Amino acid sequence: MSEPLRVADGLYGVAVTDTGISKSAVDGSLTYRGYEIKQLFEKATFEECVYLVLEGRLPNRRELDAFTTDLKSHAALSRETQNLIGTLPADGHPMDVLRTAVSSLGVTERSLPAREQQISLIAKMPAFVANCYRIVRGMPAMEPRPDLSQGANLLYMLKGKLPSDFETWAFERELILYLEHDVNASTFTVRVVASTLADIYAAATAGLAALKGPLHGGANEAAMEMLLEVVEPDNAGTYVKDSLAGGKKIMGFGHRVYKKVDPRAQLSKQLLKRLLEEQGKDDKLYRLADALERAMWDAKTIPANLDFYAAPIFYSLSIPIHVYTPIFAASRMTGWIAHYNEQLMHNKLFRPDAVYVGPSDLTYVPIDKR
Ligand code: ACO
Repeated sequence: MSEPLRVADGLYGVAVTDTGISKSAVDGSLTYRGYEIKQLFEKATFEECVYLVLEGRLPNRRELDAFTTDLKSHAALSRETQNLIGTLPADGHPMDVLRTAVSSLGVTERSLPAREQQISLIAKMPAFVANCYRIVRGMPAMEPRPDLSQGANLLYMLKGKLPSDFETWAFERELILYLEHDVNASTFTVRVVASTLADIYAAATAGLAALKGPLHGGANEAAMEMLLEVVEPDNAGTYVKDSLAGGKKIMGFGHRVYKKVDPRAQLSKQLLKRLLEEQGKDDKLYRLADALERAMWDAKTIPANLDFYAAPIFYSLSIPIHVYTPIFAASRMTGWIAHYNEQLMHNKLFRPDAVYVGPSDLTYVPIDKR
């Protein structure tokens, strides 16, 4: 083989596969299976979008009913899964607990047919996220209710009480926005694992591991901590200036694809405003986020990303900050599974090359002579 092609660090600008699942573009557009995100955000249910991303087309009424029934029948966690979660220390981050719990399904559900394994993984994510938070903190486990949607169930189990219709609707909008995003870091990770022909649990666990980092899914929790630190909209300019001067990255800003606008952030920004109005709350959190967004744009022309505006929405829904990234994962599980399946349709093992820049021609020296 001739010398390998040295591509950009971080695979910047490199296409690693073909995909028919979603398309994000530098002009600030995003489609799932050909549908513009704004239409899905405004009109679809979360379950419809899950079906769309997984199956490649929107379901009719009968198909959606059957799909939803299937999800509900797999939504509860087994006693052994709950017991496993209960053995983990109370200060464990819910994302680490979630990764461990999801991985355990690779043992307890390994004999299910492949399609049922995937439905079960998607269906269990709300109970996983809520109970990975609750059980390790000594709170009673919550069971999903058969009369609630995935989003309503997740909110209900997290908070221990039924959310209002508007809260459920708002929360499900964020789940739709988090559902899928072509070959981001965690999805690429899933595709690499799939390419080795490892099972879906191995791939999903690897996806969760990649999502946790603050440059990816972990940014929504970091963004909320920042909003709480800045407190006043008038502090935004100084905060951004000082952070950049100190070489600090500001979480919830910047994106590999969207250099001017992240369409998901702008939809979320409008939603935050509406949610605060519906709740009869002061709009200070909205004004604070808006001030930080403007300050960052003025300082470095870097736009807010989805994580930046999802964070204050979750905060306004009284969701504990440490489950923001697990919530991202609960939704993205569907995208990961769609990519796992697509990878296997035309599989080629991911095995890149590297340019070796280390030392050579060294002579081994016995240990006692070093
Ligand atoms: N704060 C400060 N500076 C930033 C930020 C930021 N959030 N984002 C990018 N920059 C700067 C970089 O330092 C770099 O500056 P330089 O040219 O002076 O060196 C320039 O902008 C280009 O940035 P890159 O890191 O090359 O952009 P890249 O496409 O590789 O990175 C990334 C994208 C990793 C998301 C980056 O913007 C970042 O670290 N953001 C903060 C973390 C974050 O919010 N992640 C969530 C991503 S969205 C999601 O997961 C849903």
